Amino acid sequence: MSLADSRPHPDLTPLPFSVAFDGRDEEDLLNRWKKVLHSNRWSDGDQTREFEQLWGDVCGRDAIAFDNWSGGALAALDFIGVADETVLCPSNTFLATPRSAQKSGASVVYYDCNRTDLCGSAEDFIAKAERHRPKAAWIVHVGGHIAFDIDIITRYCRENGIWLLEDCAHAHGAEWNGRHAGSFGDLGVYSFYPTKTLSTGEGGMVVSANEDLIKHARSFRDYGRGSRYRIQGMNHRMHEFTAALGVVQTRRLADIVAWKNAYAREHLDPRFPNRVHMPDGMTSGYYKYIVFDPIERSTGKVYQEPCHRIFETNDELPNTDWIAANHWCVPIYYPEIQP
Ligand SMILES: Cc1ncc(COP(=O)(O)O)c(C=O)c1O
Repeated sequence: MSLADSRPHPDLTPLPFSVAFDGRDEEDLLNRWKKVLHSNRWSDGDQTREFEQLWGDVCGRDAIAFDNWSGGALAALDFIGVADETVLCPSNTFLATPRSAQKSGASVVYYDCNRTDLCGSAEDFIAKAERHRPKAAWIVHVGGHIAFDIDIITRYCRENGIWLLEDCAHAHGAEWNGRHAGSFGDLGVYSFYPTKTLSTGEGGMVVSANEDLIKHARSFRDYGRGSRYRIQGMNHRMHEFTAALGVVQTRRLADIVAWKNAYAREHLDPRFPNRVHMPDGMTSGYYKYIVFDPIERSTGKVYQEPCHRIFETNDELPNTDWIAANHWCVPIYYPEIQP
């Protein structure tokens, strides 16, 4: 199907939400599910290995599958050991990001975002890091592009011994000058929740080049198996039916991202000049198409209320508050394609 055959309709009716699943993958998926059904191995089997291999290849890192983002984040934070430590976190994110640190025993210090990209501001990141000496920090690739300040923040963290975790829940297929989300910091954590650029219903993935971290994550998701149960994880395994969906979806990732980018260039950019402008070399996964003017038929905001407001802290984060008041999302959903 060519872009010309797809939406939008001539009257520019916004795209209706659809989970990004391409009907041409249905047969492959059903065959895989049949195979699992008769394999007597419904968890931790071949489909999981294949999904991890494919996702690792996409990111240029090793990958470990989880039941969801939360499981992966808890495993990574357990490896780093953040109990009684400080973790920096942007406020403009889903509350899962700060909560993962709090559940791991850390205190969270919020930092501000940029108005250009909605992601973490290097200036405020460094100011907060100098003041609070964190052991680790989250950066969130809000909306599906890579945080514009990622290089400055990564360099600062490296020079100052701070673990950098990338929240890649929105950033499937995002790359900047050939580097994928999750390959800038020490690790990345993806979510495959149904609204995401690519979904498995529920699911998560940790990616990293740190072999010890990967080994820890594999053990953590399975009650500490392989560590004589010294690693105090619970059950965060992905089952084989989910992993099979992950395999066919990952093979379609490049098409989905190309479709979204073509749709944005052709149909949306000319209509919305006051938007997030991607820098040279950036490919966004376009989880969201973000504009700074109110529009009719918006899908709303990425986040209605930033975390420091939800949790009623006394932080002053002017850009984060500005973003909450001044951005909207234009529908951009991969269309249902019949086989
Ligand atoms: C930025 C961000 N981080 C983390 C999550 C949590 O992901 P999951 O639902 O897979 O636990 C989400 C939401 O889905 C999110 O938007």
